[in-house]
This record gives sequence, structure tokens and C-alpha cells, in this order.
Amino acid sequence: MRLTILGGGGFRVPLVYGALVRDAVAGHEPRVTEVVLYDEDATRLRAVASVLEQMAPEASRPAVRSTTDLDEALTGADFVFSAIRVGGLHGRTCDERVALDLGVLGQETTGPGGIAYALRTIPVARAIAERVRACCPQAWVINFTNPAGMVTEAMQELLGARVTGICDSPIALARRAARALGLDPARTEPDYVGLNHLGWLRGLRHAGRDVLPDLLADDAALGHVEEARLFGPAWVRLLGVLPNEYLYYYYFARESVAAILAGGDTRGEFLLRQQEGFYASAAADPGAAYREWQQVRRERDATYMQESRQERAAGERDEEDLQGGGYEGVALALMAAIARGERSTMILNVCNGSAVPGLPPEAVVEVPCAVSASGPQPLATRPLAGDQLGLLQQVKAVEQLTIRAAVTGSRSLALKAFALHPLVDSFTTAQALLDGYAQRIPEVAAALPNG
Ligand code: G6P
Ligand code: MN
Repeated sequence: MRLTILGGGGFRVPLVYGALVRDAVAGHEPRVTEVVLYDEDATRLRAVASVLEQMAPEASRPAVRSTTDLDEALTGADFVFSAIRVGGLHGRTCDERVALDLGVLGQETTGPGGIAYALRTIPVARAIAERVRACCPQAWVINFTNPAGMVTEAMQELLGARVTGICDSPIALARRAARALGLDPARTEPDYVGLNHLGWLRGLRHAGRDVLPDLLADDAALGHVEEARLFGPAWVRLLGVLPNEYLYYYYFARESVAAILAGGDTRGEFLLRQQEGFYASAAADPGAAYREWQQVRRERDATYMQESRQERAAGERDEEDLQGGGYEGVALALMAAIARGERSTMILNVCNGSAVPGLPPEAVVEVPCAVSASGPQPLATRPLAGDQLGLLQQVKAVEQLTIRAAVTGSRSLALKAFALHPLVDSFTTAQALLDGYAQRIPEVAAALPNG
């Protein structure tokens, strides 16, 4: 089986490869025997290829080929992972700073930064979808590219159910909840519902009953759940659910902006520096690339969402959270379920249909899905509480406006999307955001040629 990774020079590619190596050792069939890395940037490709070579002895790992030619990368692919960053980390810093300068949340996926990121990414993602249709129409596309909900929805218009979006945050939350109760996560069933980076764990079934109320009532157990420390026991009890960590930006809107501003460097600025350092040292000393990568990766994971944890005095990350297994684990499990017909239930970004009442059928939602050889099928969900449905509907409307703006190149639809985002909530600020992003990020200006 051939797996093609778009954005193959990306820093997280070795995580995926490591999971493939472990899979090969386990001897499952069919498995990935060849990985094709595609990237526009040959230097980044070389750095990642060096890391992969050093991860395991040659005989026990899939063959790796690198290319800067998209069609060549796609031809013959059984699975395509898309993990690109249009505009690079420099673009991410602009997503953050333009908003922060206006006193609004500056974050890569949530709030106006996510809109700016989607506006420039969707045209590229759709061009990729066109090439998939031409070069490997049978392939399954697994989209990691953020903002994953919007990008997946925009690609589904061209690829239908052949593209699925993934994120590690819902399953990480469900696992932490299970472990905090001393339960084996594999024996629990999460009732999770929402959009990408905007959802709630509403229940956790174990041995025929919902154990989430036990967790919510137990201060000590809640202390083991990163999200519960972030939101605080009082608030999660009032809500009666465990929110995805990204809801911090909604439930602590003012505090999150203040914390990011007080923190000095934004996440994007920190990573820009850190990653430039990694790629430079991998080019200078390829033989040490894997060692260097491991150290840089640990630092990246340890500082993830740091300003929010500091602001909420939520302490350090748990050792288990630092070991990863999330991101690449979800991708590999999805691939295995499809390729080997190993039926499983996973939380994925798929077309809603009628799974979430109150959201449009074509909307991509993040819900538990039954996955089989014919792909993921969303499972029906219970009705949402009013506050949850209201927020999902509003944000989904913004997402769909953003997609239409990117597809038609319409500045006015983009403006409407910014203005209606609940974390912007001002037409004047929306105008300043649109102008600022178009000025600072050439790819955003290029995506909106029309009035
Ligand atoms: C989580 C999210 C991803 C996001 C990442 C950012 O894993 O689910 O969607 O890309 O965090 O991490 P970073 O280290 O880039 O801030
Ligand atoms: Mn994610």
C-alpha cells in the first residue's frame, strides 16, 4: 500500500512514520510499504527524510521517496494525508498578530485567525482535490490541514466522502476522562459532539452506564484531566460536560486575549523561531537530525497551549499527554479500519447528513463515526442543549461563509464571515481585520480578487 503525505517536509511527519514503523512490526496486513513525501520545499523534505532514515533500521521500515511534483506524488497512492500550511509559520504569526493588534483573539484555528487561515488554504486544498480526482480517484484522503473542519468541507464538495478530517483533541479528551476514572479508554464510548475545535464530551459510557457524572463530581479525578484544570471544576460542573480545550477561547474570551498579549511571543512566533532552528541544524548536520527532532518535538508538546494553562493556573501537562499517540494514532487507526476492514468507532470530521440535528446536512461536523471498509459513517447524536446548538449554528454559518468567500474569491462574503464570528462581534473590527489580513498576508489578498 502506498501512502502519500502532502506537506511531507512538515515537522510532524515523523510521528506518522513512527506509527507506520510500529504497525509494520506488529505485522498487520495490508500495511503501508511505501511512503511518498510531497512538499514545495526541497530543503524541508531533505530534513524530514534524514529524520525518517534514522528512526528505524532500513529493513523494518516502509520505503520513502520524496518529490516536489504533486501529480507524481499522487499517482498510485492508496491513501493521501494532507498536512499543508499555506503561508507557512510566518502566515500563522500574521493570523495571530493582525487580530491581537485589534484586541481580538489571535489564534491559528479559532476566531478571525482561523478565517484568514481558511481563506488562503481552501483554494490550495481544492486544487489538490482536483489533482486527486485526476491522478488517484480511488484514494482515500485524510485531511490534517487546519482549520480542519472548513478545509475538509471545502474538499468534500469535490471528493465527497473520500475525504475525512481528523483531529487529536476529541479523542485525547475522552481518553483523559476515562483514565482519570481508572478505566481502560478502549472499553469506553465517548458521546462527543461538535465542530472541529468546538465540541463537548457529553457522556462516557462504560459497562452500560454513563460514568461522566461520576467524573464531574470527583475533584481529585478532575485534577487529572487537562481540560478540567483549564476550565475549573466549578464551570465544568455547571456545564455538565467536558469542553474541548479550544472552547477556552470562548468561555474565557477576554482572559485568553489578555494572556496571549501578556505572554510576549505568540505560539506562531515561538514556533517560527523553533522550527527555523530545527531545519537549519538538520541541513547543517543531517546525521543528528533525529536526535534534534526528538528534543524539539518534546519542547513543542510541552509548551502547547501554555499561556492558557498559565492564565488558569492549570499546572504542567501530564507525562502521558507529552507522549503523543494522538494525532498519528487517529490517522493510522482510520487507515487501518478502511484498508483492513477492522471495524471501529472514531471521532472524525465528516459530512453531517442527519447526525447532528439543527446543523445543515452538508456541514462537516466532528462526531463519533462507525468506520468500515466503505469509510466512516456518522452515528446519530442526541439533541444538543440550546447554548451548544446556538454556538455551533453561528460558527458553522461563519465557516460556510468563509468557504463560499474562498471558492468565489468574494471580499464581501469574507467581510460578512469576520463580522458574524462570535469572537469578533463588530462590523468595524471586521473591516479592519479583513484589511489587515489582506495587507499582511499576500495569499489572503490573492484569494479575494472580487468585490
Ligand atoms: C492540536 C490541534 C491541532 C493543532 C495543534 C497545534 O494538536 O488538534 O489541530 O494543529 O494542536 O499545535 P502547535 O504545536 O502547532 O501549536
Ligand atoms: Mn486539531
